[in-house]
Amino acid sequence: MTPEAFVAELDRTNREALERLGAAATAGEPGPGLSVTLLLKLALKNEIEASEIAGRWMGRSPEIDVKLALARQAGDEAKHYRLIEERLAALDVPPGSVDPLAEGYTPLFQYLAGLETTVERVAAGQFTRESLALIRNQAFIDYCESQGDAETARLYREIIQPDEEHHHELGRKLLLRYADTPERQEAARRAAAGTLRLAEEIQETARLRRGISRAPGC
Ligand SMILES: [Fe+2]
Ligand SMILES: [Fe+2]
Repeated sequence: MTPEAFVAELDRTNREALERLGAAATAGEPGPGLSVTLLLKLALKNEIEASEIAGRWMGRSPEIDVKLALARQAGDEAKHYRLIEERLAALDVPPGSVDPLAEGYTPLFQYLAGLETTVERVAAGQFTRESLALIRNQAFIDYCESQGDAETARLYREIIQPDEEHHHELGRKLLLRYADTPERQEAARRAAAGTLRLAEEIQETARLRRGISRAPGC
């Protein structure tokens, strides 16, 4: 399969799972314990993990274009962290009062950290995780607007979402370049499926435990 045909196929198979996840993220009425503040605190964990994983991968990827894409992403996710922290401060949560890693890293982080090759990382991380973030963030934006929080909605719509879109597109560009053998394509397919499987498990656990849907992505 040409890289172009492969990426089109991955787009199609991902879309199916992403639609399911998107529907689950907006299913039902938001629980009474849910608030923009609580969801922003959860977002800090996604952002710090996304930044750290990109930083780790940068050091382990030999390709210059991959290093640069990951460096850009690590910086963007760190910027998102700070912007969310500032927004939380405006909502009376003092900066530095939340330790997003107090309970350790998520299973998704551990999974991504264990991926050994460029195509796996790009497929699971940038291409798939970032498209998931786009869907999650949109559900969060809608929730913010329903709560009358136009400022948080604006932050996500105007600053964070365009960055996540860019990360996803970087993933596409790199897959078109590097997913060029049947073996690499199969590895990329498996890695992307792993991200989606974990995302579904995480979403289900969060929903059962705390009634949380509408949480933003990275
Ligand atoms: Fe991102
Ligand atoms: Fe982000």
